[in-house]
This record gives sequence, structure tokens and C-alpha cells, in this order.
Amino acid sequence: MAQVRDQWTTRAGFILVAMGSAIGLGNIWRYPYTVYDNGGGAFLIPYFVALLTAGIPLLLLEYSLGHRYKGSAPLSYRRLSQKWEWLGWWQVFMSFFIVTYYIIIIGWALSFAYYSIGTQWGDDTNAFFFGSYLGVSDSFWNFGGLQWKVLLPVLLIWGFVYFVMRQKAHKGIERLNRILLPILIVMLVIITIRGITLEGATDGLNVLLTPDFSALLDHNVWIAAYGQVFFSLSVGFATMITYASYLAKDTDLSNSGFIAALSNAGFEFLAALGVFGALGYLALTTGNDIQEVVSSGIGLAFVVFPQIINTFPGFNDFFGLLFFGSLTFAGLTSAVSLLEPGVSALRDKFDLGRTKAVNIVCGVAAVVSILYTFGGGIRFLDVVDNFLNSYGLLFGALAMITAVAWTTNQLDNMQSHINNVSDVYIGAWWKICVKYVTPVMLLFMLVQNLMQNFMLDYEGYPIVGNLTLGWGAFFTTLLLGIITARMKWKANTEMLDLFRKMKEGA
Ligand code: PHE
Repeated sequence: MAQVRDQWTTRAGFILVAMGSAIGLGNIWRYPYTVYDNGGGAFLIPYFVALLTAGIPLLLLEYSLGHRYKGSAPLSYRRLSQKWEWLGWWQVFMSFFIVTYYIIIIGWALSFAYYSIGTQWGDDTNAFFFGSYLGVSDSFWNFGGLQWKVLLPVLLIWGFVYFVMRQKAHKGIERLNRILLPILIVMLVIITIRGITLEGATDGLNVLLTPDFSALLDHNVWIAAYGQVFFSLSVGFATMITYASYLAKDTDLSNSGFIAALSNAGFEFLAALGVFGALGYLALTTGNDIQEVVSSGIGLAFVVFPQIINTFPGFNDFFGLLFFGSLTFAGLTSAVSLLEPGVSALRDKFDLGRTKAVNIVCGVAAVVSILYTFGGGIRFLDVVDNFLNSYGLLFGALAMITAVAWTTNQLDNMQSHINNVSDVYIGAWWKICVKYVTPVMLLFMLVQNLMQNFMLDYEGYPIVGNLTLGWGAFFTTLLLGIITARMKWKANTEMLDLFRKMKEGA
């Protein structure tokens, strides 16, 4: 039986799901602490360079791959050239690994939305988040106990996500985005306005906006910027290939891409303004230097924000609910986009019905995600997130460029494909960025980093931890990708492909 592909109802539906995928925890939870960890304003220049020369060009490349080859990532790469099917699977497995902890953070957000009511986190928000809520264990390898307070919301989220995923893409995912995205945008705007009008906000904004040119020499800042841009735009995880494969034949690509990318960057920046404004306010109320109020790292949203909300001049519960509610909504629309690549790929290759594929993907992911609900979970999550997003993602992007631009030489055809269906003409700049600028930058950064510290010293975690979990996640996804690519195709997609080519007269 040949698979009938799901299809978005309209072009606007596609833009919505693409925006919903892009705007996520990356914008609200990850961006502010990444900016902070990388020297504040220093981050802005690498970020915009990465966005314009790599993020947007590769986003368009993924759109064109999915749209031209009408397949999940593995099928699209296979239609590009049999040799590259593994890359599609690698990206699928990366998004699968990521969703297993992404859901956890949505679970935290949901819990904290609830704790906002009556600011139940109390005065010592640090002790509350790491202690009573997460029950963090005392050392890296100490698993700690199972945290029911974390597990419960996580299971709730899984139940909801499963319900959405079971329906056809335009019924489940598209409808979810149609409902949640507009609400989310209103919420984010209110948060930002409140954040930047707080007393002391300007000090916080200065930290975000004052560029520090010396940091431009630090390749780690550049790696973090590229990682953040790709993560935030959902580039390099097979998501956009999959989503674009659900588009009708002659739908505009470039314009949709610009809308999705720019609105994502806009909301990222907006959220950052709100967050840093609020940090400035906190510095003022606690009488501390702004550098001191930020406990950097992934606790920022869950430790510092509750603290800020505690001291709010009014409507504390409301703003807590708004902030953590927006994190939850933003996370949900992205989580489904991390699951869909796997669902779509399994269906294509093994000729499964949607329900079966969803059962497998959600079932396995849910079981794996339980690992992160133990006391040691947050450190595991931190390491896996860092290594997959910095290295898996960037090496994956390099492979993608090699596949399309250097080995199969399809970049010209991709460009004509985009231009044939799109309103906005994509010029030579696009090819130059994809073929030369981005790979040179990525190679340079990665080689520098590999030479310097072999990437072992992340956050002072034990080397063995970084090796097993960090590099482990990297190589496991890669290996699983290579192995799955070697398995036999059950579905008749190859025949379909032939027919398609015949019809097009190619
Ligand atoms: N872009 C999402 C975010 O900002 C995360 C994501 C990455 C979603 C990759 C899908 C694919 O949170």
C-alpha cells in the first residue's frame, strides 16, 4: 500500500505550523540564558550573522528538500541520492532524542503555572526548584529518586500530545497551532511590555544590548550562536523537511520561510527584552549587581522568574501564570513538530498507518523521557541538550550542505524549485551562503573547538558524564541513523518515485 501524505489545509496553515515549531522553549527558556552565558550583548553579532547567513538559508533549503521530494526526511534525502538516506534518519533520531527532554521542560512549565497560583514556590525559589521540586541528587552519577511532582505533569503533557498526534496532521497539529499560537503571541507581548516598563529595566536591557566586541574572538560564542539559531528556527532536525512535504504542489516557499524565520527571531528578541528588563528590575529590588542576580544556566526561567514574580508590584499570580503558561503553549506547538519527523519517516519506510507510527514514536519517547524525571535528570538533560545542539546539529547541518551542494550538486535545482513556486525571488546570495559561507564557518568553529578541549569540560560536569551522555547521544543518534537507513523499505515509495519522475518527464 502506498502512503497518502497528510496535507496542510492552506498556505496560512503551513506558515502557522512552521511558526509554531520555531517559536518554542528555545525563544523563552533557552535564548536568555544562552545570551547570558555567552557574555550578554557579545552574543548579538554572532547571532545575527548566524541567522542571516546560515539559519534562513538552511531553512529555505529544508523547505525545498521536503517540497520537491515530497517525503519525510529519510525519503527526501533518499530521493536526492540513495547514499544520503542515513542523514535523514540521523536528523530524525536527533529530534526524537530532543523531544524526550523537551517534554520534561514543558512539564516543569506546567507545574510552575500551577505553582504561580498563590506563588506557592515561596521565598527561596532556588531551593524550591532544585530541592523540593526537582529533588536534584548530590552528584552527577547519583540517579536520585523518582520525582512524582515532575512525572505527573510530564505524563499529562504526553497524554495531550498523543491525542493531538493521533489525528491527521491538518486536524491535530494544524488545529493545535491555530488555537495556541495567537494566544501565545498575545501573552508574549503582554509579558514584554510589563518586563520593559518595570523599574530598573534599562540596566537589564543594557546587559542584553551592549555589544562586547572582544567576545567575537571566542569561537565558543560563535558555536553557541549557530546552535541557538538552528535550534530556534527548527533547522537541522528534519522538522521543516517533514512539514514542507505536507504542502500542496505550487505553494509559495520563500515568502513563508521569511515570515516564519523573521517572526521567530522577532519573538525571540521580544521575549529576551522582557526577560532582561525583568532581570534589571530584580537587580534593583535586591540591591545586587545584575550579574549576580542571574543564576546562569537552565534554571534561569524557573529560579529567577519566580523570584521576580514574588516582588512584582501587583498581579503576581497573573503574571506567573502568564509566563509559565506561555512557556507551556510555546513548548507544545514545538514538541509536536519534534515528533512528526519520526512519525512521518516510519510511515514512509515501513508502510505504517498513522496511529501505529504515533504509538511507536510517542510510546518509546515517553518511556525514555521518564529517565529525566529522576533527581539526576536535570544534569543529564543539560549535557544531552548541549552536545546534541552544539555538535550533532552543526555536524548534521554540514552533512546536509555536503549532500545537496557538494556531492549531488543540486543547489541550482533547489533554487529553481523555490523560485518556480515562490513570490520572492531567491538570488545568488542564497547559494553562496549555503555552499561556502556556512560550511566554512561551521568547519572553522568545530575544528577549533575539537582541537582545544575536545569538548569535554562542559559546565564542570565529570568528563565521563560528558563522554557517555554527551558524545553518547551524538554517536547513538548517528549510529541509529546509519542502521535504520540500511533496513529494507517496506513501502512502495520507490515505485511512487518512479511514477512521479515519469509524470514530470524527468
Ligand atoms: N524551535 C523550537 C524552539 O525554539 C525547538 C525545535 C527544534 C522544534 C527543532 C522543532 C525542531 O523551542
